[in-house]
Amino acid sequence: MYQMGEKIKFALYGSSHGPYVGCILEGLPAGMKVNLESVSKYISLRKPQSGIGTGRKEDDIPEFVSGLHNGITDGNPIDIRIANKNIRSSDYSEYNYKPRPGHADLPAVAKGIDVVGGGPFSGRLTAAVVAGGSVARQFVKQKNIEISAFTRSIGSVKDVKERTFRDSLASEIYATRACSSFLDVDMREEIETAAEMGDSVGGVTECIVTGLPIGFGGIRFNALDSEIARAMFGIPACKGIEFGKGFALSEMKGSESNDQYCYKNGIKTLTNNLGGLVGGMSDGAPLVFRCAFKPTPSISRIQSTVDLRTDETTEIQISGRHDPCIVPRVAVVVESMTALVIADQIGRGY
Ligand SMILES: Cc1cc2nc3c(=O)[nH]c(=O)nc-3n(C[C@H](O)[C@H](O)[C@H](O)COP(=O)(O)O)c2cc1C
Repeated sequence: MYQMGEKIKFALYGSSHGPYVGCILEGLPAGMKVNLESVSKYISLRKPQSGIGTGRKEDDIPEFVSGLHNGITDGNPIDIRIANKNIRSSDYSEYNYKPRPGHADLPAVAKGIDVVGGGPFSGRLTAAVVAGGSVARQFVKQKNIEISAFTRSIGSVKDVKERTFRDSLASEIYATRACSSFLDVDMREEIETAAEMGDSVGGVTECIVTGLPIGFGGIRFNALDSEIARAMFGIPACKGIEFGKGFALSEMKGSESNDQYCYKNGIKTLTNNLGGLVGGMSDGAPLVFRCAFKPTPSISRIQSTVDLRTDETTEIQISGRHDPCIVPRVAVVVESMTALVIADQIGRGY
């Protein structure tokens, strides 16, 4: 099992080509009503969309094995599992000796891990992340904390507008999780063009969190940004994260980057360059961060690899069902991970 959290703990289990993927969420108070329709809604947002996602379609029906009684938490760990029904392990048979460039096969095999189905590195496990994260999201919403993510860019198509929490929520109706229908069309085309050429594209997901009170968040290694960054790197294919203006802050003057304060029905910031965090704690402005996701490694173009049986350079052409871009599916995964981190920080009294 792969675990995170101290008070509200989250563990992932299962594998892409085993009977289930699942999660255990421990530490939520007894007596909390869980809206199961909401959990299913978020699980659906992770499903691949025709033409721009993998051909592997799953029902993804969450089964609450323990921790819920008549839809109310009973104080036991919440165990949610999701059956894998659409498995084709033959697609993966050669990766244990011919590792896919860009995927985790080579180091995984060196560790003695079977990479059928992508092993523990498969994006499939994020179905369970969304299941558990959607319950955690309901817990944090009780504190008026809300989380939404959208697609900032896919390949060369970039959304250059400032986006509000409301804009981000609106992305839920678009397959690419773009904030507008125009961007949705362009981003879809970018993915389809790459796929037609046997290639893949990456992109950037932006997440906005509202309702964090001033001072919320741990300190140093427990800081909200530290723990969010750690959680985001637990999402396969995440290669970078920046808070607020992130790397661009390094080129600004202090007079430009500081978010100055004013009093207007409470303490407010005049700008939000720092993404709502100072010292790893909330300054009351929306928390804003962006994650960069690399292009999907499994592409159908011929690539150079090695045959681990003979120690010779050889070629690989990957067939099977893969996402030409994971960004449309990953927005809800980012939201779910964020909910799990914030829930745990609430549990720890931050
Ligand atoms: C939702 C989701 C779906 C994914 N689908 C695929 C896929 O279809 N094919 C693939 O090669 N990688 C896919 N990935 C990415 C790989 O899991 C990831 O690149 C691999 O585990 C190597 O890890 P790294 O990219 O973090 O180094 C997916 C990731 C996520 C989050």
